[in-house]
Amino acid sequence: MELTDRPRRLRTDGVRSLVSETDVRAADLIAPVFVDATTDERVPIESMPGHERVPVSESAARVREIMETGVEAVMVFGIPESKDERGSQAWAEDGVVQRAVRRITNQTDAYVITDICLCEYTDHGHCGVLEDDARDDPRLTVDNDATLELLQQIAVSHADAGADMVAPSSMTDGMVGAIREALDGAGYENLPITAYAAKYESAFYGPFRDAADGAPAFGDRRHYQMDPANAREAMREVQLDVEQGADVLMVKPALPYLDIVSELRREFDHPIAAYNVSGEYAMLHAAADNGWLSLEEAASESLLSIKRAGADLILTYFAEDIAERL
Ligand code: PBG
Repeated sequence: MELTDRPRRLRTDGVRSLVSETDVRAADLIAPVFVDATTDERVPIESMPGHERVPVSESAARVREIMETGVEAVMVFGIPESKDERGSQAWAEDGVVQRAVRRITNQTDAYVITDICLCEYTDHGHCGVLEDDARDDPRLTVDNDATLELLQQIAVSHADAGADMVAPSSMTDGMVGAIREALDGAGYENLPITAYAAKYESAFYGPFRDAADGAPAFGDRRHYQMDPANAREAMREVQLDVEQGADVLMVKPALPYLDIVSELRREFDHPIAAYNVSGEYAMLHAAADNGWLSLEEAASESLLSIKRAGADLILTYFAEDIAERL
C-alpha cells in the first residue's frame, strides 16, 4: 500500500504548534464579576466553585485579582440591596453596579462591561416590566415596549458611572436600537454595545440564577429568550441587532450552540462573542470533583473549541484559571 497523504507527519511535537490553527489568549477573555449590595464580606457561590459575590467595597480588589492573571476585561453583574416591581435599583445612581463601576474604573485599568437586564432587580425575577395579569395568565409575561425605556435608563446610568461597554441581555425586541439612541442622546456616541443577540432559553443558566438571585418567581423566559430548536431564527435576531447598531454579537450559551457561533462567523463581519455560561462551568467542576475528567484539560479544550467555531472573544468563568496557565 502506498500512502502519500499522512496527516500524522504534522503531529509531532516540534511542528504541532507551527501548524496549529487556533489559540486562546488572555486578551480574548472576559471574566464575570458578581457584586452584592446585601453583604459586607465575600460569599462563595456554591454552584460555581472558585467564584464569589463580593461587596461593593471589594469590587476593585476583585478586579485587580483578575487582572493579575492577564485578563483585562470584566463583565459586572449586580445583586441589589432591594428589589421592586419595576426593578428601579437597576438604574439608580447609587445602585450596586453603578457604585461598583465607579470604584473599578477609578482604581483599575480594567475594561469594564456591564450587563443590562432587569431580572436581578425585579421582585418577580422577569427581565422587564410585567404585563397586566401576567401573574395569572401564562400567555403573558414581559411588556416589551414598556421595558425599552427602562433599559435606556439603565444603559445611561452605567455609562455615567464609567462603564466602557454595555451588554443588553434581556432579549427585548428593539433593545439595541433603543439603547443606542439613549447613549447617543447622552453624549456616549463612542460607547460600544455588545448585544446578547442570540440568547437561548437555556437550562444551563441554573447556577447563575443562584449566584445572582435572578430566577423568575413564576413562569419561565420562553416568551422572550430563544427556542433552543431554532437556528435560522438566530440569524434573523442577529440581523435585527446589527441593523440597530450592535458592535459585537454574542451567542449564549456557548458549547451547545457552536453551530450558531460558526454560522454567525460566516454571515457577519462583526466581532463574535460567546458566553460560556454557568452551567457549562459547573458541569466540568462536578465531573472533575468525581475524578471523571481533568478540569484544566476539559476547560482548555472547551475554550479552544469555542474559538475554533469562530468566536473572537469569550465570556467565561474559567477566564482567570485559563489565563494563568497561558
Ligand atoms: C440576565 C442574565 C442571565 C445570565 C446572564 N445574564 C440569566 C438568565 O437569562 O436567566 C446567565 C449567565 C450564566 O448562566 O452564566 N438575564
